[in-house]
Amino acid sequence: MAGKNPLFSVASRATAIVTLLVLSSACQAKLSSTFYDKTCPKALRTIRTAVRAAIDKEKRMAASLLRLHFHDCFVQGCDGSVLLDNSDTIKSEKFAPQNGNSLRGFVVVDQVKSAVENVCPGVVSCADILAVIARDASIYVGGPTWTVKLGRRDSTNASPSLASRNLPRFSNNLDELISTFAAKGLNAREMVALSGAHSIGQGNCFTFRDWIYNNKSIIDPAFRTKLKRICPANPALGNSNLAPFDPTPNTFDNRFFKSLMQKKGLLKSDQVLFSGGSTDRIVKEYSKNPSKFNSDFAAAIVKMGDIQPLTGSAGIIRKNCRRVN
Ligand code: HEM
Repeated sequence: MAGKNPLFSVASRATAIVTLLVLSSACQAKLSSTFYDKTCPKALRTIRTAVRAAIDKEKRMAASLLRLHFHDCFVQGCDGSVLLDNSDTIKSEKFAPQNGNSLRGFVVVDQVKSAVENVCPGVVSCADILAVIARDASIYVGGPTWTVKLGRRDSTNASPSLASRNLPRFSNNLDELISTFAAKGLNAREMVALSGAHSIGQGNCFTFRDWIYNNKSIIDPAFRTKLKRICPANPALGNSNLAPFDPTPNTFDNRFFKSLMQKKGLLKSDQVLFSGGSTDRIVKEYSKNPSKFNSDFAAAIVKMGDIQPLTGSAGIIRKNCRRVN
């Protein structure tokens, strides 16, 4: 029988391995930092100028823009799907629980995209624009820089149900966060480093209300009192009142980790990173070593940018990031 013939099984195993290699290289991202060097040499400069103008107008925009890249990549890969509006054929991800009343920066992305379309129409994808914006935003508020890999194409669909399933939630515990990131190929250390993005930006009251009013939460008492003044217990009131994630919300630094060590995490999902579990030592390390945090963050966000990109003949270059051409 063929199955018992050692020669056959060696040959078939070899064929299977070759097939797997071919398949995996076909699926593998072929992103490259020089992707637009010939087709749109002005792309990166154009994006940078527009991002700077937006952040000059409003510092918090750096945070909102960085977050968009994350919410893009975790939902069917970095394919610009988060930017699609509702239409006859699209159910937008913008209303998924983790995005609704909270994601912002879409108008700035429109401005960046139209600046890029002006210099080279139909060449640069919305997914790549989000990746470059994230890097530029980080630099502009004092965070790390990294080389952005390019060549992603845009999806023609969106998935609110994947957004709801694949994005982490502010109510998650440590195991849930670890497995949400593991599902995207990111380990616990990378998850902690990436969470350090909460060094910038702010959270709406509805995202931290349960956390501060739950008596079992391990929160510094003075910090809790301060947050209660911002965020009323009544869920009908003050939902969009804002509180910063750390004391320096317009500067990308390692203060977020120091705050966690003082039990001053704004979200439950922040504080669980330092609450007696396996990631405590990483938080401690980043709180002491800002340059290690910066380099780990940079490496992890590049890895995040590699999640399931559409390349080659897959996907399209959307002319307007909000809709399919
Ligand atoms: C670890 C799991 C994470 C959870 C549960 C989480 C959840 C949240 C929540 C609830 C907010 C507040 C939203 C609002 O009220 O408007 C927020 C804001 C933010 N998140 Fe995350 N996040 C996580 C990881 C990340 C990662 C990996 C990044 C980026 C690499 C990121 C970047 C940001 C930024 C920059 C803000 C501030 C946005 C602004 O001010 O507009 N987050 N996040």
